[in-house]
This record gives sequence, C-alpha cells and structure tokens, in this order.
Amino acid sequence: MTHPLIELQSVSKSFAQAGKPVTALEDVSMTIDCGDVFGIIGLSGAGKSTLIRSLARLVTPTSGKILFQGIDLFAMGKRDLRKFRKKMGMIFQHFNLLSSRSVAGNIAYAMEVADVPIEAQEKRIDELLDLVGLKEKKHAYPSQLSGGEKQRVGIARALANHPDVLLCDEATSALDPKTTKEILRLLSSINKKLGVTIVLITHEMGVIKQICNKVAVIQKGKIVESGSVVDVFSDPQHPTTRHFLEETAHEIPDEFFKEISPSRKLLRLRFKGKAAGEPLISQLVRKFDVDANILMGWIDRLQSLFLGTLIIELTGKPEGITKALAHLQENKVHYEVIENDRR
Ligand SMILES: Nc1ncnc2c1ncn2[C@@H]1O[C@H](COP(=O)(O)OP(=O)(O)OP(=O)(O)O)[C@@H](O)[C@H]1O
Ligand SMILES: [Mg+2]
Repeated sequence: MTHPLIELQSVSKSFAQAGKPVTALEDVSMTIDCGDVFGIIGLSGAGKSTLIRSLARLVTPTSGKILFQGIDLFAMGKRDLRKFRKKMGMIFQHFNLLSSRSVAGNIAYAMEVADVPIEAQEKRIDELLDLVGLKEKKHAYPSQLSGGEKQRVGIARALANHPDVLLCDEATSALDPKTTKEILRLLSSINKKLGVTIVLITHEMGVIKQICNKVAVIQKGKIVESGSVVDVFSDPQHPTTRHFLEETAHEIPDEFFKEISPSRKLLRLRFKGKAAGEPLISQLVRKFDVDANILMGWIDRLQSLFLGTLIIELTGKPEGITKALAHLQENKVHYEVIENDRR
C-alpha cells in the first residue's frame, strides 16, 4: 500500500500561557499528497505556524498523530529520523540566514549538517545557485542582499539535500508584491520541475490563488474548509473563506447595497471554466418575471483555469425572486446573496 506523503490525524496542540492553556490546534486532520502545492490560510493567531512547525517536528502535538510517508513523526527511530530530516526542507518569513556566512556558506551549512562530502557540496551549490538565479551572488553576504535574494538563498539552502517536501512559513510576507510574485513563480517551478511537494502557510488569498492546487482554511486552530483550490474558490462554504476571497476580489461600491429588500437582491454568481452567465440570466427574466441587471463582472485566473464572477441585481416580486433563486440552485449555479460587503 502506498501512503499519502503527509497525514495529520486529529492533531491538537495546546500551550501553557501564564499558567493557562491556550489551544493552538484542535482536532486537525488532513492529507497532503505527493506533488501538491498545499496552502494553509488563516488570520494571525489561527495556528498556522504551529501547524507547519509540527510538520517539521519543531512542535510536538499534545494529541493526535502526524504520519510522514506512513511513519509516525514522533515515534521514529534514529535512522528514519535522519532520513526524514533530509526529506524535509523549510523556509521562513525572515529568511533565518547566518549573517557571518556568504551565500555559498549558508547553502553549504545544510549539507555540512548532513555530512555531504566537500566536492559534492561545491557542485550542488553551483546547481542550486543556477536554479534560484543567484550565480553572481555566490560570495556575497546576507547584509548585501535584497529580501527577495535572501529568500532565494533560503530556498537554495532548503533544497540542498534533495528534499521531497518544502515547508514555507509565510515565505513571502516580508516581500513587496512584485518580489512575492517572483518567489512564488520560483516555488511553482521547483514543484513542477523537481516534483517537490510544497506546503505553505499565508494570510493572503492571492498567494493561494497564484500557486496552490489545494487549500485549507484554518480558524482558531480548526480547519473550517478544505479542498481543491478550484472547488473552494468557485463555491466557498465558510464565511471565513468568503472573507479571504473578497480580499482579492474587486470592491463592490457602497451604493449597490442601498435599498436591499425582498424585492431587490444582490447576487454574486461564480462560474467555473466555460459556463456562461448570460443565457441563464435571460432565462430568469423570462421565466420568473424579474429584472436582472449586471452590475459588475470579472474573471480570475487560477493557474490554467478561469473563474468568472458576476454581481447582479434582481428586482421584482418577492415570490418571483425566491423562485429565481431556487432555479439557480437547481441548475447548480454557485451563488451567494450578498447583504453587505463590509464585515
Ligand atoms: N511557543 C508558544 N508558547 C505559547 N503559546 C504559543 C506558542 N506558539 C504559539 N502559541 C499560541 O498559539 C496560538 C497560535 O499561534 P501561531 O503562531 O500558530 O499562529 P499563526 O497563525 O502562525 O499567527 P501569525 O499569522 O500571527 O503568525 C496563538 O494564540 C499563540 O499565542
Ligand atoms: Mg505564524
């Protein structure tokens, strides 16, 4: 039987803070498969770092199990542990580079710890610098590098021992939007070219949108929604997910929210791929004697897929509107009645 790459089974973690227990993770179960770019999104204090640190074995859960390739992370023998350390690379928000060592020296450090022979280290350093696009900075020191360059060194260091998984704790939070995009592009190519599975945590939906294929939303230590990015983006179930999605969406002007009533409703329709909104809207108008007015529309790109959003206004008799909504539901159109955008 093949095991999933990483499996969390009912993982909980509480810390003692001033003598009181604080729950950072509560009954978290999830599976990360080989080749995934798995994003975990949540607000500050939600438990993201605790979660990713437990995957790196830096935090020990209070209860539950974490299996890495089927082996219990916290009951490993010495040999499995040595193997595990090579298979897991990690990058950090503040890069965590050694300031007294050059770029090459920082990358070498990861290999020294793993007893890689010097000649092999030299060869690997050049390969990695090529991969992350930092050849000419080989002998520079961290203080001479920009944030984006420092993170590239962090990535090279994390990949030094050919890991299967790269854990990223807010890897782009300290970077500007353009540099963020470049680093995410690099991570995505590492996933595709080298087959490295990536687990990343973030508080920005834009990051998830750009590179992840799966997402889990974490709130107060619990996973409130998870699935493929396409499914979660096209039909978000939990208010927290919707909140994060609105961050990357276009802002709806205040005027649109005036005079909401049983005879005037605002809807947000979401369409995956080629599903078209227009025939459906004209159907509503014909069948239920309501008026449908398109107020806004846009298309988001999720890697290779397009996701359309329409904000429409339905006006008419309340019964007609109720029937129109039922019709949308029957036709499996993902919609939300929006009351107010300011939460
Ligand atoms: N070592 C620790 N000792 C005590 N409490 C901790 C410790 N680490 C985390 N916590 C608590 O656990 C909860 C979750 O913290 P965590 O750092 O995992 O959140 P986060 O989602 O990473 O937040 P942020 O986005 O701000 O980094 C918080 O209430 C935090 O105070
Ligand atoms: Mg954190």
